[in-house]
Order: sequence, then structure tokens, then C-alpha cells
Amino acid sequence: MIASTVRSSIFLNFLIAIKVYNFAKVIQFTPIFMPDFSQNNHYILGIESSCDDTAAAVVHNGWVLSNLVASQKIHQQYGGVVPELASRAHQQNIVPVVHQALQQANIGKKDLSAIAFTQGPGLMGSLLVGSSFAKSLAWGLGIPLIEVNHMQAHILAHFIKNQSKNPQFPFLALTISGGHTQIVLVRDYFSMEILGQTLDDAAGEAFDKTAKILGLPYPGGPLIDQYAQQGDPYRFKFTQPKAGGLNFSFSGLKTAVLYFIQQKESEQPGFIQENLHDICASVQHTIVSYLMNKLQKAVQQTGINQIAIGGGVSANSGIRKALQQAESEWEWITFVPPLEYCTDNAAMIAITGYLKYQQGEFSDLTTVSKARLEF
Ligand code: KG4
Ligand code: ZN
Repeated sequence: MIASTVRSSIFLNFLIAIKVYNFAKVIQFTPIFMPDFSQNNHYILGIESSCDDTAAAVVHNGWVLSNLVASQKIHQQYGGVVPELASRAHQQNIVPVVHQALQQANIGKKDLSAIAFTQGPGLMGSLLVGSSFAKSLAWGLGIPLIEVNHMQAHILAHFIKNQSKNPQFPFLALTISGGHTQIVLVRDYFSMEILGQTLDDAAGEAFDKTAKILGLPYPGGPLIDQYAQQGDPYRFKFTQPKAGGLNFSFSGLKTAVLYFIQQKESEQPGFIQENLHDICASVQHTIVSYLMNKLQKAVQQTGINQIAIGGGVSANSGIRKALQQAESEWEWITFVPPLEYCTDNAAMIAITGYLKYQQGEFSDLTTVSKARLEF
């Protein structure tokens, strides 16, 4: 009787121990993965969900096999991204987008070597959808999880092998998007220093807010670019914003455009319609020459003349033309990725994941999403 009680109590403790072990495994889960580099056959799934694009991509040894983006149209009617609607749309999109990314890459889940996801910066609700999905899938498949800084990824997109040329270290990166404007000194893949950044609005916001003032739908940047191509950039003059050193400021420009338009429309109703192309060309010219002036300063300061751009605004035809001119006039070597690697995309997350994978830099399940995240 005593023996059987002892036996059952040992058995009970054993069961409890297994339960505790499993529970601990669930909450701690610090996997020690040893990638098999002798195979050099690594498939990384990248997941991006920092704002209003749900994106998934597969990178194989640094080459992009698939790069899918589901852009959320719902925000257009609100004139800007509504965070709660963005996270709900991510929830709807993430499974089909990942599924298609795997299908297009012609691989199955079991072929994946690791899963990289955007840890931040971005909208908290949006980030959480991507990170929860990435964590669950990595855990389910028993493969490494890799957290990626979205801003670093915009820069590291330059190392996607599908491009004709890649920058050499050290180089300067200009990251211009809807949320950020930064000049970064890139010494190595993960050794980056921010030399200057916006003190208020981002370059993309300057485009989008101008578009809103002109009554154009969100996001207005591409439309301003489109109209600007048929307009006179010198017709209207806007003073370049002021910010010290290599920092930027764009909020004053928005106010200047607003007052200018209000005054002109009151003097001459229909002013916007009649002068849309010239207004867009003039505002775009102001923003582009401001960005180029700061870049010129950064080149003088560092003695580095390799410039790589990234972020949604680098799709702008004005900045692309200005950089081309700088190549011939100032002997800069410039790197402008294809559009699909400029705007928010998961290929840049997957390539960053691949670079971290090679260094064995993995995250555990306790890692958290971060709305603000420095390098
Ligand atoms: O990098 P991105 O896709 O998302 C963020 O992380 O913000 O950048 C989006 C921004 C928006 O402000 C959009 O208006 C702007 O990039 N953008 C452009 C152009 N294409 C996208 N701005 C000016 N000209 C364009 N062609
Ligand atoms: Zn971005």
C-alpha cells in the first residue's frame, strides 16, 4: 500500500515535471539552432507588417524568389492610415499572402530555414500581427525566428542579389519614407550611425500632406510625382525648411503650402485646378533640392561619395533624376533599388534575416514588437 502510494506519487511528480518542462519550454523557448552552412541552401521567409502593407517574401541564399504585398485600400477614404483598421486588415491578409509567397517561390513550409519579421518601428497593432504570426510559424516548424529593424532593412535591401550592383562599405544611406527621413553612415551590415534625421514630419508626410491640401487622395506622394512631371518646378517659390546640421524639418513647408494655397484660392477661385502641375512640380522641387543639399553636406562631412537610397519616397522621379545628375556632375556613385524594394516590402526583411541568419543572430519567443526602435 505504502509502496504503491510512493510509486504513484513519483509518477505524479514525473507528470508534473513534464508539464512544468513543457510550460517552461513554451514561455522561454530559447532555441539553439546551428544552421548547416555546408548545405548553402537557405530559404528565409520575410514578413513585413509595420504599417498598412501586409507583405511576405522568400529569399534563397540572398536571391529573391517571391515578393508579395497586399496594400490596404481601406485607408484611402480616411486620408491616412487608421491603425485599428490596419491591424484588422493584416489579420485577414497575412495567411493568404504568406501562402502565395511560398507558392511563387515553389517551396513548402518545411523547406524554410528561418522566419524573419519586422520587430519595429511601426504601428503597434500592425507589428503584433506580423510578429505573432512569425513566432507561431517558427515555433511550429521548429526553425529560427529572426527579428528585423524596418529602417535597417530599407538600407540592407541594397544587398538583395537580384540587383545589378551593391554598395561597398562604408556608404551613406538616405532613408525617406512616410514615417522617417534619415541620413545614415553604414560601416557594415549591422554597424550603422544616424548622422541626421527629421525633427518633425518625414519627407513622405510632406508629399502626402501637400497632396491632402490640394484635395488629392491618400497616399498623395505618387500623384504629386505624376503631376510634377508635366509642371514647371520654378513657377512657385517655397523657402527651404531650416534644421541644423544634417537634420531635417518638413512641418514648416506643409504650413507654407497651406497658407499659399488658401491665399491664392481666395484671390482666384479654381487656382488649384488651373495650376496643379506647376504647384506639384514646385513643391517636389523644394523637397528634392532640400534632400540633395543635406546629402551634399553629408558627403563633404564624411568624404564618402557612395549614396544608397531607400524608403517609399525614393520611388520619386525627381530624386532619382537629381541623383543621376550628381553621378555625372559630382562623381557620386549612387544606388537606387527597383521600386518593389523601395516601398515597404518583405524582400528587404528576408534579406536582412538572411544576413542575420549567417551570423547566427536569432530571437526567442519572448521578443516584443517595438513601435519605436533605434539601430
Ligand atoms: O516606405 P514606405 O512605403 O512606407 C513607410 O514606411 O512609410 O513609404 C511610403 C511613403 C508615402 O508617404 C508615399 O506618399 C511616399 O512614400 N511615396 C512617394 C512616391 N511613392 C511613394 N513620394 C513621392 N513620390 C513618389 N513617387
Ligand atoms: Zn518603410
